[in-house]
Amino acid sequence: MRRSLALVGLLLVVALLSDAPWAARGSSHCKHTYSEDIRPHSVTITEFGAVGDGVNLNTKAFQNAIFYLNSFSDKGGAKLFVPAGRWLTGSFELISHLTLWLDKDAVILGSTNSADWPVIDPLPSYGRGRELPGGRHQSLIYGRNLTDVIITGDNGTINGQGDIWWEWFGTGNLNYTRPHLVELMNSTGVVISNLTFLNSPFWTLHPVYCSQVTVQNVTILAPLDSPNTDGIDPDSSDNVCIEDCYISTGDDLIAIKSGWDEYGIAYGRPCTNIIIRRLIGETRRSAGIAIGSEMSGGVSEVHAENLRFFKSSTGILIKTSPGRGNYVRDIYVSNVTLADVDIAIRFIGYYGEHPDEFYDPNELPTIERITLKDITGENIKRAGLLEGIEGDNFLNICLANITLNVTSKSPWNCSYIQGYSDLVSPETCEPLKEMISPERYSDCYHLSDHLRSSSNQKKGAWSLSW
Ligand SMILES: *[C@@H]1O[C@H](CO)[C@@H](O)[C@H](O)[C@H]1NC(C)=O
Ligand SMILES: *[C@@H]1O[C@H](CO)[C@@H](O)[C@H](O)[C@H]1NC(C)=O
Ligand SMILES: *[C@@H]1O[C@H](CO)[C@@H](O)[C@H](O)[C@H]1NC(C)=O
Ligand SMILES: *[C@@H]1O[C@H](CO)[C@@H](O)[C@H](O)[C@H]1NC(C)=O
Ligand SMILES: *[C@@H]1O[C@H](CO)[C@@H](O)[C@H](O)[C@H]1NC(C)=O
Ligand SMILES: *[C@@H]1O[C@H](CO)[C@@H](O)[C@H](O)[C@H]1NC(C)=O
Ligand SMILES: *[C@@H]1O[C@H](CO)[C@@H](O)[C@H](O)[C@H]1NC(C)=O
Ligand SMILES: *[C@@H]1O[C@H](CO)[C@@H](O)[C@H](O)[C@H]1NC(C)=O
Ligand SMILES: *[C@@H]1O[C@H](CO)[C@@H](O)[C@H](O)[C@H]1NC(C)=O
Ligand SMILES: *[C@@H]1O[C@H](CO)[C@@H](O)[C@H](O)[C@H]1NC(C)=O
Repeated sequence: MRRSLALVGLLLVVALLSDAPWAARGSSHCKHTYSEDIRPHSVTITEFGAVGDGVNLNTKAFQNAIFYLNSFSDKGGAKLFVPAGRWLTGSFELISHLTLWLDKDAVILGSTNSADWPVIDPLPSYGRGRELPGGRHQSLIYGRNLTDVIITGDNGTINGQGDIWWEWFGTGNLNYTRPHLVELMNSTGVVISNLTFLNSPFWTLHPVYCSQVTVQNVTILAPLDSPNTDGIDPDSSDNVCIEDCYISTGDDLIAIKSGWDEYGIAYGRPCTNIIIRRLIGETRRSAGIAIGSEMSGGVSEVHAENLRFFKSSTGILIKTSPGRGNYVRDIYVSNVTLADVDIAIRFIGYYGEHPDEFYDPNELPTIERITLKDITGENIKRAGLLEGIEGDNFLNICLANITLNVTSKSPWNCSYIQGYSDLVSPETCEPLKEMISPERYSDCYHLSDHLRSSSNQKKGAWSLSW
């Protein structure tokens, strides 16, 4: 009886979801006009003396080509074409209104000499390098204060040759924090598409303080045991859309971040309006989608759907700590398929890792309005390890329609958590047992929006359109 009532409730909820006003709003920033022909001017890297033998260092050729193309930035911009070949280079900087285009079989190779990756200031929202105090190596492909930048091609490859960095990391021979493969900072209108990214020294794609970022149809690969090779880390950025990606790396496939403890709080730039859809991947050490642990500028409005993670440590992960401050709220994840995953859903309230001793342990993060629905899993060890913070419960955690084949005898372990659930198997932990009844819709993120416009709803179709 209770179960059938629950089902009716859920049917209503799902019906309402299919006409989500947010969906229309969301899809608008996923649509950019992509065309390889939008740039009226084009040059090839060989015109600037580059040699694609994998041996000659082409940093100067990239820098000179981009310097030359700067003169077209007020004339519709320009394209830098990289043909088939192995183009070894150190770090170089992009400009506005530029398309970097890698042809099929074009490979940009990161130099294995750390001196070819200059050291730049730490991010203000981190206060120091993420791994070591002080500066950090500049990413192989870097851009700052830009508008309208496209990195694309016909499945060419950008290969960071990260092994040497992982070795320096492992043997304690780094002097500065490792570089990302691609970092765009303080930029608007960024498209990264149709390429393969290999073996980043550190995080692979890092848009930070950016707006209107699209990552589409990319493959990101690094060994499953390589250290901190996150796939895509939107950081203090808004209106980010990530779709149709395959990621297999040594750390989080996607990690949504916004700065670190007192530095992130002071900088105060949230990560918001993030869409992730049609993501497939594998990560033996961490999570398919993670939020945090650096979230001190706040994270909100994350919508993720149609996800498939296999042979992974964790499916969905929220990590934070006393000292981080601010919030993670209004998170909606749906339609997730898990196979051979240790922990389907995990919250870590005491992640630790602080930039220095000046963080304020009384800055407790607010974690609330997290809705996870339509999740199935085969060969899952634990369904959920949901650890909040003592005196700072994570609130309005809503789990709906979750079916996991779990091997552990204690599938859920929850502490300092409050919320609701419906149609969850195996049965949830005590703090989430209260059913998602209609009067709870407004507590459960993304279930509420639909209730208000529900009067004309009658269809019971499961036609989730996004
Ligand atoms: C970006 O803008 C900041 C602040 O105006 C400035 O300090 C910095 O030099 C600029 N960097 C580049 C590469 O334009
Ligand atoms: C994905 O990228 C490949 C090249 O890497 C291209 O052939 C294919 O058409 C792209 N698919 C979409 C949907 O853009
Ligand atoms: C692009 O190349 C990668 C690496 O070789 C490959 O795994 C992927 O399937 C290719 N993508 C497309 C769309 O051809
Ligand atoms: C760190 O600094 C030392 C001393 O200057 C230098 O020999 C070494 O190559 C540097 N390591 C890296 C990874 O750059
Ligand atoms: C970002 O760019 C704006 C305008 O160019 C500038 O005012 C601001 O200082 C920049 N911030 C950073 C962190 O570069
Ligand atoms: C990816 O490649 C496909 C096939 O060439 C093209 O239709 C599409 O517009 C490209 N996507 C982006 C975002 O560049
Ligand atoms: C769920 O996601 C899978 C891809 O993982 C997709 O094939 C399927 O159509 C999605 N279902 C719905 C209802 O959107
Ligand atoms: C539950 O989720 C599955 C996919 O995981 C979906 O096929 C099914 O329709 C959902 N059922 C309800 C009652 O929402
Ligand atoms: C899930 O586990 C149950 C037993 O707990 C088993 O009967 C069922 O076949 C499993 N489903 C799959 C697809 O393996
Ligand atoms: C549940 O979690 C608490 C603390 O988070 C831990 O002390 C306890 O051992 C866990 N229980 C199980 C069965 O894992």
